[in-house]
Amino acid sequence: MIYAQILAGGKGTRMGNVPMPKQFLTLAGKPILIHTVEKFVLESRFDAILVVCPADWLSHTQDLIKKYISDERVHVVTGGSERNETLMKGIDYIQENYGSHDDDIVVTHDPVRPFITQRIINDNIEAALEHPAVDTVVPAIDTIVQGTEGKIDDIPVRSTMYQGQTPQSFNIKTLVESYNALTDAQKETLSDSCKICLLAGQEVTLVRGENYNFKITTPYDLRVASALVKTRD
Ligand code: CTP
Repeated sequence: MIYAQILAGGKGTRMGNVPMPKQFLTLAGKPILIHTVEKFVLESRFDAILVVCPADWLSHTQDLIKKYISDERVHVVTGGSERNETLMKGIDYIQENYGSHDDDIVVTHDPVRPFITQRIINDNIEAALEHPAVDTVVPAIDTIVQGTEGKIDDIPVRSTMYQGQTPQSFNIKTLVESYNALTDAQKETLSDSCKICLLAGQEVTLVRGENYNFKITTPYDLRVASALVKTRD
């Protein structure tokens, strides 16, 4: 089976003083989350598409899905306090409701990357059917400088540097086994899901993203997204 998970469990604190988590803010007349879910329902190979949201926003999210999306594959599920906890709550829902099979895969995506394309979704599915874990990246444009306490530790060769986007896609069995092998401290601090598999010694395959598949994080990003939507209309 092929699943999608939209990881909408965050609070969006870097968006500043806004009345709701950033995934629910309006972009061109509808919530950012809805723009993203609309891209996923276009892919017919998904057996189920989970929207995993904060507990306090469960009924709001259910109302939005009812209002904008008429696709029975979409289900709203409560997430957790950390991103990977949200991911694993979605996996629990899948296993409780659909069982588990060795070749099940999940394509996980940030709701706040509404400019994802069908090409990126398709490449993730194809790669995850062949490999245990998949990350979507774009080559680093700026030089990446690694530093601590105001001083440079290293300047890695730019041609080997990428910026991580989403989707991140996984063979579910591998992901669960890798997650269960982490210590509690690792589970709390890991913000990246592919790192779960890396730490477990799994190979993570790269898929090409796009610069416009950026994550809306700050008020500036929201302004850029609004301008982009207008040029695409
Ligand atoms: N996320 C999640 N569950 C959490 C925390 C984060 O599903 N408990 C998701 C967010 O909804 C977001 C994605 O992870 O789509 C990427 O994280 P980030 O941009 O850092 O989102 P937030 O944690 O919401 O933002 P901030 O760090 O500004 O608070």
